[in-house]
Amino acid sequence: MPREPLEAIMLVGGKGTRLRPLTLSAPKPLLPTAGLPFLAHQLARAAECGITHVVLATSYRAEMFTDAFGDGAQFGLSIDYEYESHPLGTGGGIRNAAARLHGGPDDPIVVLNGDILTGHDLPAQVDLHRKTEAAVTLHLVPVEDPSRYGCVPTDGTGRVTAFLEKMPNPVTNQINAGCYVFRRSVIDSIPAGQVVSVERETFPGLIEADAVVMGYAEAAYWLDVGTPEAFVQGSCDLVLGTLASTALPGPVGESLVLGAARVAPGARLAGGTTIGDRAVVEAGAVVEGSVVFEGATIGAGAVVRNSIVGYGATVAGTTTVGGATVRAATTDGVVIGDGAYVCAGNELARGLRLWPGTRLEPTSVRFSTDA
Ligand code: GDD
Ligand code: MG
Repeated sequence: MPREPLEAIMLVGGKGTRLRPLTLSAPKPLLPTAGLPFLAHQLARAAECGITHVVLATSYRAEMFTDAFGDGAQFGLSIDYEYESHPLGTGGGIRNAAARLHGGPDDPIVVLNGDILTGHDLPAQVDLHRKTEAAVTLHLVPVEDPSRYGCVPTDGTGRVTAFLEKMPNPVTNQINAGCYVFRRSVIDSIPAGQVVSVERETFPGLIEADAVVMGYAEAAYWLDVGTPEAFVQGSCDLVLGTLASTALPGPVGESLVLGAARVAPGARLAGGTTIGDRAVVEAGAVVEGSVVFEGATIGAGAVVRNSIVGYGATVAGTTTVGGATVRAATTDGVVIGDGAYVCAGNELARGLRLWPGTRLEPTSVRFSTDA
C-alpha cells in the first residue's frame, strides 16, 4: 500500500558536551561515524521509512549542517534548516522548526533526537499513532540504567501514564527512545520563541491534560551515541553490520578503510574499526573497536582499542630516545583530540580525553608499572 509523504523534524541543536573535545570542532550529529557524518545514517534510514521532507532544528555550528547535507537530494529527501540563535530546548526547537513543515494540523510529524541509532519499525509506530488518534506516540525501549533517560511507564493498553525525565529512582526500565510521532497541531500548541523542554514540560503537560499519549514499545537495536563509549560502539556496530545502514560507504566487516587511507601489511584492524581518509596505520599496529578520523596516524606497533583518534592526531609507534628503545603508545577507552600527538611510551586508558593539539612527551602517562 503506497504511503503518504511523511515529514520529520530532527533535533540537532545541542552542544554535545559529553563528547568534548570532539564536539569543539563539529556538532555531535556530524562526527564521522562508520565513514560518514553520524546523521547521514539517520537520514538514509528516514528516507527508507517513507519520510520525504526533513527540517533540521539547528543551533550550535548550524552552518556545518548545510555544508554537509545541502538540499538532501543525495538521500532522496528534501531538507530544510531552521536556526535558533539561542537554543530553545527540545520543545522550543521543535516548535521553531515547525514553521517549515508543509502538512496540515492533523498530519503526523516524526521528531527524532539527532544522536540516536535505531532499528525499530518507524512505519509501525506511525500506524499505531494513526490508529489510536494519539496526540503523540513515543518509541519506548528497555535499558539497563533508566536513570540517564526519560522514564516512561505505560498502562495495559500502551497509553503513557507519566513522563519522568532523568530520575534517580526510575519506576520502570522502559525509557523514551527519542523518536516521536506528533500530531502537527500539538506542535503548534507549544509556545513559540521561548525555551521549552518536551521531556519536562510538553509531555507531562499533555498527560496531565488527559491527552492520548501512546507508547510504541519495540526492543529493536537502539543506542544514544552521546558519550564517547556509546559513540565508538555505534560506529563499530554500523561497520560490523549489527545495525544495517544503507549509507555505509563499504561492505560490512571487521573494519572500514576509507578513501586514501594507508594500512601497512601486518597491521591488524578489528572490531568494526573505521580508518578515515588519508589516515595512516603503520606495520604491526593493532586498531580494535575504534574510530580513527581523517589524516590521523597510528604508528608502528601502537595498540589502539575502543578509542576515538581525532583529525590529524598521532598515536606514535616504537621509537628510539637517546639510544634507548621506547615502546609504542597504547590507548584503551580514550578520546584523542584533533591534532594531538601521543609520543611513544604513553599508556592511555580509562576514559582519558586528550584536548586538541596537546603533545604528550615520551612516557608521560602510564598505568602499568613495568615501564
Ligand atoms: N534544536 C535544538 N535546540 N536541539 C536541541 C536542543 C536545543 O536547545 N537541546 C538539545 N537538542 C538536541 C540534541 O542535539 C540531541 O540531538 C537531542 O536534542 C537530545 O538531546 P541530548 O542532550 O542528547 O539529550 P539526552 O540524551 O540527555 O536525553 C534525551 O534523549 C534520551 C534518549 O536518548 C531525552 O529525550 C530523554 O528523555 C531520552 O530518554
Ligand atoms: Mg542524547
